[in-house]
Amino acid sequence: MRAPASVIIRSVGIHAPERRVTNEELSRTVDTSDEWIRTRSGIGERRIAGPGENPSDMGAKAAAQALERAGLRPEDIDLLVVATMTPDLPFPSTACLLQAKLGLRKDIPCFDVSAACSGFVYGLQVASDMVRSGRYRRALLVGAEKLSSVVDWSDRATCVLFGDAAGAAVLEACDEPGFGILAGELGADGANAELLYAAAGGSAKPASAATVAAGEHCLRMNGKEVFKLAVRVMAGACERVLAAAGSDASKVALFIPHQANIRIIQGVAEQLGLGMERFPLNLERYGNTSAASIPLALEQAWREGRVRHGDLVLLVAFGAGLTWGALLLRWHEPSR
Ligand code: UT7
Repeated sequence: MRAPASVIIRSVGIHAPERRVTNEELSRTVDTSDEWIRTRSGIGERRIAGPGENPSDMGAKAAAQALERAGLRPEDIDLLVVATMTPDLPFPSTACLLQAKLGLRKDIPCFDVSAACSGFVYGLQVASDMVRSGRYRRALLVGAEKLSSVVDWSDRATCVLFGDAAGAAVLEACDEPGFGILAGELGADGANAELLYAAAGGSAKPASAATVAAGEHCLRMNGKEVFKLAVRVMAGACERVLAAAGSDASKVALFIPHQANIRIIQGVAEQLGLGMERFPLNLERYGNTSAASIPLALEQAWREGRVRHGDLVLLVAFGAGLTWGALLLRWHEPSR
C-alpha cells in the first residue's frame, strides 16, 4: 500500500464506569472538603470502576463506540495501540487482552504505550506515523485507566484527584493532504521520575507483603513541583509546535489539554495569552483520568459540535516520566 497524504481521526468513542464518587463522599473517609477539592483542582466527582471492570473492559466499550460511529467492523482494524499506566496485568499487554475482547484480526500488531498522562498523545503520534508509513490503513488507539487501583485512598493529597475511564479513536489513511498531525513534540525528563511514581510492584522492587503494608505500590506525587513544571512545559510545547507549523495560538480553534487541574489549564491559557473559552473542560465530572483524559475531552468537544472540518486543534499533555506531548491537528470531520 502506498503512503497516504494524511492520517485523520475518523471517529472517537468513550466509556466511563457508572459509579460516581463525589467530593462529599470522599470527605467522609479522608480529611478534605468539596470546597477544597473544587477550588484547588476544579474536580467535582470522579468515576470508579467496579470489581472486574478493567482497562481492557472499559477500552473495549470505548473502542466499540468508535468503531460503530465509523461504520467499521473489528476486522477493518490493522493496528492496535493502548496507552495506559494501569495495565490489567504486568504482562501481557492490555492491547493483547483488548484485541481478544474486540475480536480484532490476529495478523495485526497490538502493543501498549507507557507514557502515563501523556500516553494518548504519544500513542497518537506513534499510531499516526505507522499509518502514514503506508503499511497499515486503520489504527485503533485506546487510552484506558483504572487509577483507582493505584491510588492510596488514605492520602488526601492524591486520592481526590484521579478517576477511571477510557477513550478511543480510529485513525485512518486519507487521500486529501493537509489533515491530521501537522506538527508535534513529544518529550521526556527521566531525571524527574520520582516526582510522580510508584515505588514498588515492578521488577526493581516486586510486590511483597512488606511493600503492600508500606503502600509502596501506590501512586506518590510531589504535587507542587508537578504543577509548576506542567504549566511551563505544556505552554512551551504548544508555542514550539505552533511555531514549527508556522502558526500561532490565535489560529487554534480548540486546545484539548490533559485534565489534571483546572488551575494548570488556566496557567497554560494565560501563558499563551488566551481566554479559557477555547479550552474544553471535563475534569469537574471525571477528575484526572490520565491517558483517557484527552480522548474524553475530545469526544465531548466533537459531540457538542465545537470542532469543525478544517479547524486547528492542539492536544497537549503532561504526566509521570516526566513526559509531555503536544500535537497540532487539522481536523477532518469524522463520521457520526
Ligand atoms: O496528570 C499529571 C499529574 N498530576 C498533576 O498534574 C497534579 C499537579 N498538582 C496539583 O494539581 C496540585 O499541586 C494539588 C491539587 C495536588 C495540590 O494543590 P496545591 O495548591 O499545590 O496544594 P498544596 O499541596 O500546597 O497543599 C496546600 C494545603 C496543605 O496544607 P498546609 O501544609 O498548607 O497546612 C495540604 O496539606 O492543602 C492541604 N491539602 C488538602 N486539604 C484538604 C492537600 N490535599 C488536601 C485535600 N483536602 N484533599
